[in-house]
Parts: sequence; structure tokens; C-alpha cells
Amino acid sequence: MLSPAPLFLSVLLLLGLPIGLHSARQFQTLNMKPQYFNPKLPPPQLTASKRYEGSSDLVHLRYHMGPVLSSTPINIYLIWYGRWSASDQLLIKDFLLSISPAHTRRASPPSPSVSEWWRTVSLYTDQTGANVSRSVVIAREHHDSAYSHGTHLTRLTIQDVIASAVRSAPFQVDHKNGIYLVLTSEDVTVQDFCRAVCGFHYFTFPSKVGHTLPYAWVGNSGKQCPEVCAYPFAIPSYMAGSQPLSPPNGAAGVDGMISVIGHELAELSTNPLVNAWYAGEDPTAPTEIGDLCEGLYGTGGGGGYTGQLIRDGAGRSFNMNGRRGRRFLVQWVWSPILKACAGPNAID
Ligand SMILES: *[C@@H]1O[C@H](CO)[C@@H](O)[C@H](O)[C@H]1NC(C)=O
Repeated sequence: MLSPAPLFLSVLLLLGLPIGLHSARQFQTLNMKPQYFNPKLPPPQLTASKRYEGSSDLVHLRYHMGPVLSSTPINIYLIWYGRWSASDQLLIKDFLLSISPAHTRRASPPSPSVSEWWRTVSLYTDQTGANVSRSVVIAREHHDSAYSHGTHLTRLTIQDVIASAVRSAPFQVDHKNGIYLVLTSEDVTVQDFCRAVCGFHYFTFPSKVGHTLPYAWVGNSGKQCPEVCAYPFAIPSYMAGSQPLSPPNGAAGVDGMISVIGHELAELSTNPLVNAWYAGEDPTAPTEIGDLCEGLYGTGGGGGYTGQLIRDGAGRSFNMNGRRGRRFLVQWVWSPILKACAGPNAID
């Protein structure tokens, strides 16, 4: 449902009116409880043509008989390419570690949570009836801070980065549960980055890496194209008058990456060898479970609206909780049951 009135109010609050010490306290008081709002923003440039606006009878997401990531747990092998701050690494790792359900009720982040979001991904099965695993761990990390393959990478040299990593002990080749996640720092340019893609997933070639391993790459767009890849924390400049959303962890580039990482992991898990779950007839340009819901973060999204989000007392937007009190804004994914985009912050 669209709600222009709260939107107007939220714009006023976003503008921070009025300014001053006394008013600042008043501002905080006003925001003691998380607020719900559904901002209207210009669509991200990259994806405008590919959006399905949340649900459509025309979407035929089909299963093509290949495997999904059903082994438990899914082992993520993290490759930090370039220079990364410890705090940015911690933030991204907190997101990844929030995917698995907590071991105890007490340790569970409040609803809506990242693990509830992944529940939709775990509804996908292979032809044996095995579901995508609900549990995800970080198996190993590799730091490539010397830019072993330069500051510009192509789709193929990303595989060389993985090859170098798996040859270095104690990193390893993990055929059973392993996925490889290459994250490039904001000074690294990547083929098609900012123009056609913000991240992608595929599998490695034996001629490059020695094995066929599912992997994903996501870049930090903070300095290169935040209005494209860190949307909605930055928006295209031609939209005068619109305000970007305030990122939940105060870092547009990395907060934006987290939604892209979520998108790629969801697709990697349901289509690791690009022969399982996708829509469209062309396997070289599959439309996958994340693509179907790009730019959608809550109920009432579409038509330029992000969907209903939550805003904290400091005006920062999020739609799910993670471990250690973290908050994230992550796009929804397509549900095979609802045949629509779904997320844990949905209003029934
Ligand atoms: C596995 O997926 C099926 C089909 O989407 C779903 O009905 C079932 O609840 C899932 N099982 C688990 C254990 O998540």
C-alpha cells in the first residue's frame, strides 16, 4: 500500500528540521521508537528496465534440474582483495554470520532478522527434494592486500585471484560445501562494474583454478558509483530534490555492498552452476531470485517506492536485524511458495 502522508513527514524529518541543540533533543524524543516509512525514490539506473515490481503472473521461475547448495553448513571462503579496514570487514562478517539461525533463543536477533530473510532462500530445493541449507559459516579468510592481480580485474582475472587464494595454505579447495566470495575494495575497478553489474556469481574453470567452484564477486562502489551500486544510500544526481536514505551502519559503500552480497548469495545458493533456479529461456542471461526483487525492501514497494522500511532514532534506515545489535538494509528475494518477492519485514 502506498502511503504518501507518512512519506511527507519522513522527508521533513530527514531534512533534520529544525536544527539546534534544543531541537536536536526534541528530534531524538520524536524518534524514540523505530518509525515505519515507505520512501519514494528515483529507481536505480542499472536495473530500471529489469524490474518486475514485486510480483507478476508473467514470471516463470523454473527449475532446470541442477544442484542447489544443500550441504550443511555452506562454507564461505572469503577473499578480501585490496585494502580493507577492520571495521568494514567486521560489518560484512556480521552480516554473513547473521544468516544462520542463532543457537539459542536468547542469542536470536529480534524479528525481522537476517536469518528469517534467508528462510525464503531455503525454500528452494533440488530434484532430490533437498533444500538450500539454512546454515552459513565463514570457513576461512584470505587477505590479498598486495593486489596480486592489479587494481583492475576482469571476469576472468577474478578467477586468478581465487586460484592464488586456494593455492595458499590454509585456504583450500572445498568441493562439498565451499563457495568463494571475492570482495574488492573501493579503489579496485572491475570489468562492467558500475555499468552493467554491482556483483555477479558464477563458477570457476578447471583451466584457471583447477576445479569447478561456485563463487561470487561484489565490489565496494563507495568511490566509483554509489548512486548505481549503493542505492538507495546514494541516488542519481539528476533527481534534484530527492534525499538518499541514511545507511544503517553509516557507510554507504559497505552498507550498499551488503544488499548486493545478499542478492548474490541468494542466487549462488539456488543456482550455483547456473542450471537450477532461474527465469527466462536464455541461460547466458538468467533472471534469478534476487534479480526479480531488485530495489524492493518492504511491503508496498514498486512504482518508485522502496517498500516500508524502519528508521532508527538517528534517522538510519534498515529492514532487518543481525547479530550483535547490527541492522541491515537488504533487498527481498523471490519466494517459490508465494510467487512474489518476500522478506521478514513484510506486513501481512
Ligand atoms: C524445503 O522446501 C519446501 C518447498 O519449498 C518447503 O515446503 C519446506 O518447508 C522446506 N523445508 C525446510 C526444512 O526448510
